[in-house]
Amino acid sequence: MTLILGIETSCDETAAAVVRDGRLALSNVIASQHDLHEEYGGVVPELASRAHLERLLPVVRAAMREADARYADLDAVAVGNRPGLIGALLVGVAGAKALAWSLGKPIIGVDHLEAHLYAPMLSRDAGGAGDIVWPALGLVVSGGHTSLYRCASALELAKLGGTIDDAVGEAYDKVAALLGLGHPGGPRVDALAQTGDDRAHQFPLSRLEKDSLDFSFSGLKTAVLYAARGQPERPSPGEAPRFLRDGADLSEGEKADVCASFQRAAVRNVMLRLERAMERWPREFRTLLVGGGVSANSRLRAELATFAARYGLALRIPAMEFCLDNAAMIAGLAHERLIAGLVDDLTLAASPTTSR
Ligand code: KG4
Ligand code: ZN
Repeated sequence: MTLILGIETSCDETAAAVVRDGRLALSNVIASQHDLHEEYGGVVPELASRAHLERLLPVVRAAMREADARYADLDAVAVGNRPGLIGALLVGVAGAKALAWSLGKPIIGVDHLEAHLYAPMLSRDAGGAGDIVWPALGLVVSGGHTSLYRCASALELAKLGGTIDDAVGEAYDKVAALLGLGHPGGPRVDALAQTGDDRAHQFPLSRLEKDSLDFSFSGLKTAVLYAARGQPERPSPGEAPRFLRDGADLSEGEKADVCASFQRAAVRNVMLRLERAMERWPREFRTLLVGGGVSANSRLRAELATFAARYGLALRIPAMEFCLDNAAMIAGLAHERLIAGLVDDLTLAASPTTSR
């Protein structure tokens, strides 16, 4: 049996969780900073680091208390040490090192993207979410990444494709900002899309080569911009384009139509790459593994279920509380690293880039 405390501070959530045997989340505490960044329309790195500093210890204490766990019983302290905002990561890494050192426990650094793909393994009840049948086709859809992997195990990921411009969650956030829906935008666009007509606008799918497994969302984003604000007048050299209107001035119904049509195209973009991967390797994968904040999206979840059934794949997608950034996924994956002997020491560094 292992008991691991996980810490996550890569962006704007300060999170801590205690996980038993890499599967059972005994606690999953997340202090979101959304209120802090809302007025700036995005995450302000310096504000995020300071807020992590204030919140880390209370959040860790809450996670230990909720799990009814004692520090002496921990087998390791795990921390997401890459990728993310460097100042934000450093707070978590320094905190985890101090805890591990003072308790005399091993420290384990975890890649945030690998951890997102581990999230489907987590559950709140002792029965667990069940083992994964490998190999799996892995899809990470988050605010920072949109990537496809061939996964031989939770620790063996080979990248098949990634975004060449925006991540899908970033596109959601930008569309929300354009329509004046606030930050973070994904859940708000998802909710408003429920009431809109998804055929109101014909937004383009990304024009990458026919067999590419990479993603692109910038063309879609520009098409949504023009639909919401009108085709701009051609500016004179050195001038910013002049739009007909502000996206926030559209009626609720018009915004809902833009959201629904955008969501149809964004999800289609993702599904198209999954279809290509399955066409290229029709007999390779047993499981479709999905993680990252956008895996909370209602339309994506529905289309993934249909897709998995069509290709005979077992769909493993996180329970809602493990979709967005959380520390249970960090503690969970650290269990796999611990039993594989992949333990770090106090030289563990934070890094803004992923190893994946
Ligand atoms: O994984 P995550 O919490 O942070 C990163 O690692 O980036 O993902 C956050 C992203 C944000 O862009 C947010 O708008 C998006 O996930 N998101 C959603 C939904 N819920 C969160 N996007 C679409 N639909 C949702 N329901
Ligand atoms: Zn994330």
